Amino acid sequence: MVAEKERLLTGAKPTGRPHLGNYFGAMKPFKDLQDQNRYECFFMIADYHGLNFIQNKSEMETLSKELALDFLGIGIDPKNLTLFKQSAISEHTELAWIFDTITTMPYLMRAHAFKDAGVKSKDISVGTFNYPMLMASDILLYDTSVVPVGQDQKQHVEYARDTAEKFNRIYGATFKLPREHIQETSAIVPGIDGHKMSKSYNNIIPLFGSREEIVEAVTSIVTDSIGENPKNVYAIHRLLVPRRDLDGIYALLKGNYKKIKERLIEDLETLISPMRERREYYKAHPKEVENILSKGTEKARGIASVKMVDVRQKIGVA
Ligand code: ADP
Ligand code: TRP
Repeated sequence: MVAEKERLLTGAKPTGRPHLGNYFGAMKPFKDLQDQNRYECFFMIADYHGLNFIQNKSEMETLSKELALDFLGIGIDPKNLTLFKQSAISEHTELAWIFDTITTMPYLMRAHAFKDAGVKSKDISVGTFNYPMLMASDILLYDTSVVPVGQDQKQHVEYARDTAEKFNRIYGATFKLPREHIQETSAIVPGIDGHKMSKSYNNIIPLFGSREEIVEAVTSIVTDSIGENPKNVYAIHRLLVPRRDLDGIYALLKGNYKKIKERLIEDLETLISPMRERREYYKAHPKEVENILSKGTEKARGIASVKMVDVRQKIGVA
């Protein structure tokens, strides 16, 4: 008998062009796990989470499509991928409501993401406040075992686990407890200014950038004028080349910032150009992408609807 594979699920909001931080923090860990062939892999386009940020029809449509291309572009094998949009499966929002009813306000107010949003603005939407409950539904509907995420999403996965435990305590065993998977070596990818790489800080290296864009980004990496090795260049380079080899290269090119940056450009090109080409391929074959999405949606819907039948029975509304 073949043992059933554990399920792995992650999602991303359709918020625009991905950068190297998204790749090393979230996309590559997902791909690496998928490549191990030990898991059944689900990737969800979190468009309903994105609705907190995007309130424009064409932007929402375009960005959701782009995100599917990005994920296929990094080289995920579509044969072992269940790709779907969160909004296509109404069980997500239905379950989120049920979770809202067993969750307290003080608990949600302790979420880092909510606190951060609160610092920026007092007019936070209810959707932002409830964000972790929708994410808990995304994860728990599929009996997910492993959730590969960046460090900043760790707490949300803990919230999903807590929520599963709470529901199970009240209504009886229903949800599997998920665990997060964080690739420690690249927990936080620094941007070209040395701070965390982020769209909001304008310090990114675009993942599918053209050669010109890569050159421009690398040229703008802030370097200190003292010391032999440019710290911020090294920090990014380290993601691409094993430390021992890299230290050899930096020793050889000691102090020559220009040459070091040229080397980084070449190493980035080696990583990025096959991904750029694959993404272009899918962009030119939209039917293929649609097929992958519709097959994924069908499969996800089957699982989610069976789970919701159980949930409805347990809470007494069936
Ligand atoms: P941004 O900060 O650019 O808006 P998001 O918040 O959309 O990025 O992040 C999407 C995913 O990418 C998350 O899982 C997050 O943890 C990961 N991620 C984003 N930036 C980085 C980074 N600099 N280092 C590591 N992971 C990152
Ligand atoms: N909150 C995640 C982010 O901002 C996206 C997300 C939504 C997600 N649902 C998920 C990630 C479920 C993992 C599992 O990046």
